[in-house]
Amino acid sequence: MSTPARFLCYNKIMKSYIVGNWKMNFSVGESSVYLHKLSQKLRASRGLTVVVSPSFVALQPLSLQIDRKKLRLAAQAGNPHDFGAYTGAVSYTQLRGIVDYGIIGHSERRQLFHESDKDIRASVAAALRNQITPILCVGETETEHTFGETEDVIRDQLLGGLSEVSTEDISKVIIAYEPIWAISTTTDAHLASPDEIGDVAGFIRHTLKDTYGAATAKEIPLLYGGSVNPSNAGGYLTIPEINGLLVGGASLIADQFIDIIEIAKKVQD
Ligand code: 13P
Repeated sequence: MSTPARFLCYNKIMKSYIVGNWKMNFSVGESSVYLHKLSQKLRASRGLTVVVSPSFVALQPLSLQIDRKKLRLAAQAGNPHDFGAYTGAVSYTQLRGIVDYGIIGHSERRQLFHESDKDIRASVAAALRNQITPILCVGETETEHTFGETEDVIRDQLLGGLSEVSTEDISKVIIAYEPIWAISTTTDAHLASPDEIGDVAGFIRHTLKDTYGAATAKEIPLLYGGSVNPSNAGGYLTIPEINGLLVGGASLIADQFIDIIEIAKKVQD
């Protein structure tokens, strides 16, 4: 698959992002030790934003520990209602001031917790009204990929998730493309190739352009996630439309995550 010429007209935006999604890993103590190690090794970089996304229980204590010049926090999910009788839920209103980013619509939330496009759209709106930057995840299953349905799926997830976002607010949103078939894979055959990612990223940019206009669309950061590690990060970060990475497994190993950050800094320079 090659990247169609019409998708190559956007310049790389200045800022890039490395986001670590810790999923349901680490105790509060382990999260704190990890963050300390990361903070010691990191130097603030103007062009690169580093974000980690611990479990809910760790967010509040880590928000007191974190050096915001070097690192930012993201929530892995949130409830779009502000307050009320929603047992077990945590709202974006409650997360306000604790996190700067919110991962929304991750495939694990869609598949395991049955979050619908309606829930995701409400979460994007709730995050924005609470000054939290949504990282809206989109991605197709292996079957959808095999049957050539990727663009239809991505368009639906994208427009479904963003339908309550105004032209003014869209510049506060980050999009992450995570093909489900490439998440947590141990075989190279299942890794998404830079060409495949470039095609879909170009399609996402094109879809955003149709809705919000070219000038706005080119400013929206587009991340890639799916078995990113220090060996493939450089290749993914040099895809023209890609502005950063959403890292799962490799973000749990501090040395690997730091290596990925260093690679991103080099690509940025
Ligand atoms: P892996 O990097 O483990 O494939 O996870 C990707 C992911 O789901 C990040 O949100």
